[in-house]
Amino acid sequence: MAFLNHGSFGATPRRVLAAQDRCRLAMERQPMRFMMEELPAALRSAATDLASFVGAGGEDLAFVENTTTGVNAILRSLRLGTSDEVVTGDHVYPAVLKTLEYVCRRSGAQVRLAPISLPVMGPEQVVQAYASVITPATRLLVIDHVASGSALVQPVRALVALAERHGVPVLVDGAHGLGMLPLDLPKLGATWYVANCHKWLCAPKGSAMLWANPDDARSLVDLHAPVISHGFDEPFPAEFDWTGTRDFSAWLAVSEALAMRRELGDEEVRAHNNRLARDGGRILAESIGGVPAGPESMTASMSAVLVPGIEGATQALGDRLRALLWAEHRIEVAVPAILGRLTVRVSGQIYNEPAEYERLAAVLPGCLARL
Ligand SMILES: Cc1ncc(COP(=O)(O)O)c(C=O)c1O
Repeated sequence: MAFLNHGSFGATPRRVLAAQDRCRLAMERQPMRFMMEELPAALRSAATDLASFVGAGGEDLAFVENTTTGVNAILRSLRLGTSDEVVTGDHVYPAVLKTLEYVCRRSGAQVRLAPISLPVMGPEQVVQAYASVITPATRLLVIDHVASGSALVQPVRALVALAERHGVPVLVDGAHGLGMLPLDLPKLGATWYVANCHKWLCAPKGSAMLWANPDDARSLVDLHAPVISHGFDEPFPAEFDWTGTRDFSAWLAVSEALAMRRELGDEEVRAHNNRLARDGGRILAESIGGVPAGPESMTASMSAVLVPGIEGATQALGDRLRALLWAEHRIEVAVPAILGRLTVRVSGQIYNEPAEYERLAAVLPGCLARL
């Protein structure tokens, strides 16, 4: 098969899965000893290892199950009032938008969407879109580091600077950021950064991180774990380290994913993936006469191309195309519908090769014609 959709759920190498299995075995061999004596230090050591990969300190980083959980922890810890507004972009991941809507519904606050629209001509378009909806009532900016549907890397530094001018805290949804982009979280300067380890770092499913900026006092105000347990009110990140009995092996195996990445060379892996995705995006655009979702300078290890001639596209249409490509050609690719546009999104990973994108380009026009 041609698996060109690393972006949705990642893929975990056998070596990392083996490390996870070893953790599980250690847990079951003597559960009391593992949970009570070994786990607390092992967890903190894995957190420190991961933090050092993103230029941070382990004491500022908590593990969470996934980006959705981390985003929920932060948004549901906010205290919003009826006249408050929270701002995000119209490329926002739908589950994050739903969390924002839930939090606002309970408090009477409003969600405002920055109209980035599609295609994106450059980073300024994104900054201007956010600037156009920030008001004195804005209490939070939620920014994707890499937007899911459009695959575009957002100008986070410029958006953080914009937020700073308005005195507004920033939550970065870095679901795709970790392992795809070089990260120095203290330099990025957001208030919180949430990221999946199970996507581009190739760690086991159920591993993600929440970083709270130690230089931004707002990051810890009333921040609570998504599930309250023994550690309630203990200083961050202790409250997050124990949210009830669970399988901690995915978190503990993050170090193996990091070790593998370091051995392969972080820069080399990213350069390889970016090259594949950018070249793949170009080939794809040519084959269907579509325009890219944005400039190549805003892409990294995923590229999305807008399918021409389809307005008001729904996700059901995207799902049909995805299913057709898999059933008839054994090609797995993401086909998100965003803002009424159908996009075909390809990922590049270390297991991909250029011929796979050619294969997709060869059959895509025919599949589109049959939708
Ligand atoms: C931008 C973005 N945010 C959040 C998520 C949710 O990630 P998870 O399902 O691991 O919580 C995704 C998943 O693809 C995403 O692309």
